[in-house]
Amino acid sequence: MEELKKYITEKGLTYYIETYGCQMNAHESEKIAGVLDSLGYCASPEKGTADLIVFNTCCIRQHAEARLYGNLGALKEHKQNVPGSLIAVSGCVPQQPDAAQKLMRRFPFVDIAFGTNGIHKLESMLYDALICKKRVIAADNDDSIVENVPVSRSQSPSAFVNIIYGCNNFCTYCIVPYVRGRERSRQPDDIIREIDELCQNGVTEITLLGQNVNSFGSGLSCNVSFSELLKRIDTQTGVKRLRFMTSHPKDISDDLIDCYGRLKCLCEHIHLPVQSGSSRILQLMNRRYTREHYLNLIGRLKERVPDIAITTDIIVGFPGETEEDFEQTLSLVEQVKYDAAYTFAYSKRTGTKAADMDGHLDKKIVSERLARLNALVKQTMRDKNAEYIGKTVEVLVESAGKRGREEMSGRTRTAKMVSFESGSALIGQYVMVKIDKIMAHTLHGVCVDRENKS
Ligand code: SAH
Ligand code: SF4
Ligand code: F3S
Repeated sequence: MEELKKYITEKGLTYYIETYGCQMNAHESEKIAGVLDSLGYCASPEKGTADLIVFNTCCIRQHAEARLYGNLGALKEHKQNVPGSLIAVSGCVPQQPDAAQKLMRRFPFVDIAFGTNGIHKLESMLYDALICKKRVIAADNDDSIVENVPVSRSQSPSAFVNIIYGCNNFCTYCIVPYVRGRERSRQPDDIIREIDELCQNGVTEITLLGQNVNSFGSGLSCNVSFSELLKRIDTQTGVKRLRFMTSHPKDISDDLIDCYGRLKCLCEHIHLPVQSGSSRILQLMNRRYTREHYLNLIGRLKERVPDIAITTDIIVGFPGETEEDFEQTLSLVEQVKYDAAYTFAYSKRTGTKAADMDGHLDKKIVSERLARLNALVKQTMRDKNAEYIGKTVEVLVESAGKRGREEMSGRTRTAKMVSFESGSALIGQYVMVKIDKIMAHTLHGVCVDRENKS
């Protein structure tokens, strides 16, 4: 592949990646960038002049996919503006059954389509596209795990680390298991090695990624469970803050709950998607837990760590959802008092079980319910944030704040975004901040201790 590298570097080719969807995709964009950097491409600060544009796509809801097609259509002119440029589409959209072929037919100016399992093939795809002037597709259901793909991460004290790929849960509304295939876990030693290297390079906060991290270890011969993995990371690496997403309520073990407050690095925050407060709807969603089971988990987590932050995902308007079902969702939100909730109108995905269910709701009813839910979530968020006023919290400085150099921002262990006045705090430092007021979604405070705690 020296020929390819020579071609890219001699021409000084640049790339631009546009990322849609979840953290998994954000991390995969870092891998795509890693491969491109290793081939001699340079990142382009703007899309308009890039020699290669990659759209790393999401298909979780219909409007995400529709938006992609709109944005993709607009790229037709790019080919005329930047002669010889390439357009690539990656991620979840081309990984859907037959989607890559359809996409190539509909958008003749797309040169490369590759799925979530195709990143390690990018080098040979680029050879075919750049040197042989061919259009290429790599979106087969190859379930193997490829280690040592280069990763270009942004200079940040925080990093994502994949621990498990795919999903076996088949929630009836969800397209992910059809796109990302069956669950497969990485070897614990590979994970520890990656985290260790990151820590040596200045990273202190790690977020473990997977569609269902609690399933970690099933299928591995070494018999390491998710909570055992957390314990290993705690003792064997220098990580200061450890987070994970996403965990499924049906699989939260006693052992995992026990890790809270016990493992020093494990942050006091859990993202635990509930989806609905009605056990009847949860059953139709194939979530395999009840409202009571969920509330019991929340109770136990709060017992263990009273100031734990809890965030969630909720779907409104699942087929057959009645006003009573919806009111149960409202009452659950009131009971749990979420720190944040990502709320979605149900979106019909072809190929999923829910798409064929009876009782699809009128759009007007769904948007009216969504507005009621959002108003309640806003209130619980405010109440939770108000609890911080007057408290002093540890903040990991992430970036300059909105008001220029005088203000910095970062997150607490409970994942609250805090902006604070402190001209000399450095990105990557841990500082103590006294909270003095709350904004719409964030906290505001004053730095009281700038000592580097790492
Ligand atoms: N594996 C994770 C995340 C899945 S996608 C989990 O199980 O929590 C993120 C969120 O998108 C889901 O939690 C769900 O709330 C939402 N979602 C998934 N499919 C959807 C659909 N068809 N319509 C609306 N929201 C959906
Ligand atoms: Fe989708 Fe459910 Fe798997 Fe999450 S657990 S990715 S919602 S099928
Ligand atoms: Fe993530 Fe969207 Fe794919 S939410 S897993 S990028 S369908």
